[in-house]
Amino acid sequence: MRKKVVDGVSWVGKIDWEIRTAHGKEYSTHKGTSYNAYLIEDEKTALVDTVWEPYADEFVANLQLEIDLDKIDYIICNHAEPDHSGALPALMKLIPDTPIYCTKQATMSLPGHYHQDWNFRPVSAGDTLSLGKNTLTFQPIPMVHWPDSMMTHLSGKNILFSNDAFGQHYAHELLFNDLADQCTLYEEAIKYFANILTPFSPIIKNRIVDFLATALPVELIATSHGILWRKNPEQIIEQYLQWCDAYQEDQITIIYDSMYNSTKVIAETIARGILQHSPATQVKLFHAAKADKNDILTEVFRSKAVLMGSPTFNKGPLSSLSALLEEFRGLKFMGKKASAFTSYGWSGEAAKEMLAQLVDAGFTTTDEGFRVHWRMDTDERAKALQFGVDFASATF
Ligand code: FEO
Repeated sequence: MRKKVVDGVSWVGKIDWEIRTAHGKEYSTHKGTSYNAYLIEDEKTALVDTVWEPYADEFVANLQLEIDLDKIDYIICNHAEPDHSGALPALMKLIPDTPIYCTKQATMSLPGHYHQDWNFRPVSAGDTLSLGKNTLTFQPIPMVHWPDSMMTHLSGKNILFSNDAFGQHYAHELLFNDLADQCTLYEEAIKYFANILTPFSPIIKNRIVDFLATALPVELIATSHGILWRKNPEQIIEQYLQWCDAYQEDQITIIYDSMYNSTKVIAETIARGILQHSPATQVKLFHAAKADKNDILTEVFRSKAVLMGSPTFNKGPLSSLSALLEEFRGLKFMGKKASAFTSYGWSGEAAKEMLAQLVDAGFTTTDEGFRVHWRMDTDERAKALQFGVDFASATF
């Protein structure tokens, strides 16, 4: 069933209320998601993007209820990742000669996925395609999110089809930001940026600046996931510019795992020390093996500093901490401070190991970490409290 975006532009995608992980099992989607595709009906008709492969047949069947497929003059493929291009094979079986407008990189990645020699029309920045009254202008945005990504602007309606940029994994039947829960929308937008786009932050900033330099007017941002930004669409552009710029709030996140609660008690004592020094700082604690990985990474993105705590186990941290440290390395957070702590019985290398990995991931460490032999006694509780005070002071 189509949903009206504006006169002449319809949403024809799929809202996926069931999905609970995306990118395989890598990204938790507590609120579902959507694969947004659009039909633009002018003197010519263009289809912008499709849906994820499991919904390909449903997508094509629904599209046939809305339009004679032979009337689709152009297909715009803004990004070859299968969550957007996955219905192309089913669709192109029925309209094999329809031209597909995409970036030069997508003319390689699409055949890489589907091994089909479709009628590709590679486009460059500023290239246009007239639909009759209104015109499409293409703006490649490599690395937002893949090298083949681009945005497409529709004149007259002033709609920016932004693909992954400005999206969120948020299933919602009413499409538009003014009809969505604002807290959920913000939480899913920042989670999406933190977990998917953070490594490309400097590039994204340049791509946004490049687009703003085109002076193309934008009255609506039609994303490929989640909510469309209809009310004050500039808000998400301004938000992205902030998130791109070594974003942080007055927050310290403590991430720990614990075998017999010793490390947990250290974490909670350090938290009290931080609050003793900085009563207004948001201090949040997460058990690395119990909390959702992507939610933790979102909190790290928000933080000015991070503390990692683990028992020493096989001369290093527990695997839950190691997995997160590997995520830190890939995500390339910027401008954040860090330290580590451990409870140990014999050798106590976990803090040193985690500090080295934090430095490798681009964090600035504030000290040599904090180590407790077995469980804390009264003196060590005082030292842990002071460690929290000193860490808060170092991050001020
Ligand atoms: Fe939603 Fe990069 O695909």
